[in-house]
Amino acid sequence: MKDDLKEILLTEADIKAICEDLGKTITEDYNGKPLLCVGILKGSVMFMADLIKHIDTHLSIDFMDVSSYHGGTESTGEVQILKDLSTSIENKDILIIEDILETGTTLKSITNLLKSRGVNSLEIVTLLDKPNRRKANIEAKYVGKKIPDEFVVGYGLDYGELYRNLPYIGTLKPEIYSK
Ligand code: IMP
Ligand code: MG
Repeated sequence: MKDDLKEILLTEADIKAICEDLGKTITEDYNGKPLLCVGILKGSVMFMADLIKHIDTHLSIDFMDVSSYHGGTESTGEVQILKDLSTSIENKDILIIEDILETGTTLKSITNLLKSRGVNSLEIVTLLDKPNRRKANIEAKYVGKKIPDEFVVGYGLDYGELYRNLPYIGTLKPEIYSK
């Protein structure tokens, strides 16, 4: 599997440092307020697991699964709710945890939906941000790292459901896409 990579963009140490930094900032911002962290399946699971270890406030977790990609490398712009939250979010402080913000289509529809349920506050933390690809009017309050417009895999991020188990993040060799 590791032979399929062209280049490593974020090492395990880079990711660890990002989680520590973001966790510290989020801890300071929420200042002891209870928090509901909403992970967007499936890409955010590794990041969520590592990040919340560094958030020092009472928090609970929930998950949503949406689909916009259909296995390729280009977003179709359509978002389908595959799994909704299992808890009420009314009057709660919500932190959405996402792997990567690209066109923003996914997060725009999720935030619109969650805001309509009467949350107290809603913010987004994303490990990666590809600002050059943005189409929807949306930004994350907390960003781990801005990256150029390249398709990346690893640490939860997939290509055709594979590579999520890599402990770091990288780009794939061009021949992998032409297979
Ligand atoms: P958006 O709706 O275009 O912002 O896309 C967000 C979703 O697309 C992310 O949650 C990922 O699941 C997926 N995605 C976007 N860019 C990449 C990438 O470079 N590698 C893997 N998945 C990606
Ligand atoms: Mg995702």
